[in-house]
Amino acid sequence: MSHADAPIGVFDSGVGGLSVWREIVRLLPHEDTVYVADSAHCPYGARPAAEICQLSEAVASFLVGQGCKILVVACNTASAAALYHLRAAFDVPIVGMVPAVKPAVAQTHTGQVGVLATGVTLNGQLFHEVHERFANDITVHSVTCPGLVELVEAGRADAPETEVLLRHCLQPLLDAGIDVLALGCTHYPFLTPAIRRIAGPDLLLLDPSAAIARQTGRVLRQSNLLADRARPGQHTFLSTGLPAALASFLQDTLGLTQPIDIRSYNSP
Ligand code: DGL
Repeated sequence: MSHADAPIGVFDSGVGGLSVWREIVRLLPHEDTVYVADSAHCPYGARPAAEICQLSEAVASFLVGQGCKILVVACNTASAAALYHLRAAFDVPIVGMVPAVKPAVAQTHTGQVGVLATGVTLNGQLFHEVHERFANDITVHSVTCPGLVELVEAGRADAPETEVLLRHCLQPLLDAGIDVLALGCTHYPFLTPAIRRIAGPDLLLLDPSAAIARQTGRVLRQSNLLADRARPGQHTFLSTGLPAALASFLQDTLGLTQPIDIRSYNSP
């Protein structure tokens, strides 16, 4: 297999990175992918950054060992804790994530923007850099909402208790007059219906998934690594937790109907 025909490796602490994965597949339908959900260690946001860095390195090392030609760290928290380290440690190109402060600042009319992310993301250097660089005279209200990731993992993104928790986290931002909310965790796009019920139709929600997919395509093109084939891409999913939980999420939330190749994977 030529290197361009190798798969794209994508990982997250759990199912959240599937919000990015589905955009990659939509944009690059002929690419094969390998997705790892490190569900045995989810949520990453509750762990120290050094431990998240080790966990991310273990998953990245596995994906590189599978022959992946590029890695997409489909997790803001893992990017915050490990992106620089992973880029230094591995030879393949690595695409990471940071909350969308720049587009949020560009699109606000009230001068008040919200960022919803984990504490590790908000305390990380990447977020600090974009905040310093782009926030200017705009007020950025950054908040964490512990418990949301677990609810999404459990397939309860639309459940009443999720809406109660979200309302508790978002109300102070709405009271402050935000008109843009950056979803700084890849689990949160799955909460869009619940956020809409709380915030109404006018709040601009920034989901960076499509931009990350475009960036992945750009990097592959620049590196001459786009797959040159006619057949649709083939997709493998691995979970360090329960493969059945990943399978249910893929079916129930992403609507995947074709036979899904799901394996368990024991991280070291
Ligand atoms: N999807 C991860 C992110 O983008 C979730 C964080 C977690 O596991 O706590 O930040």
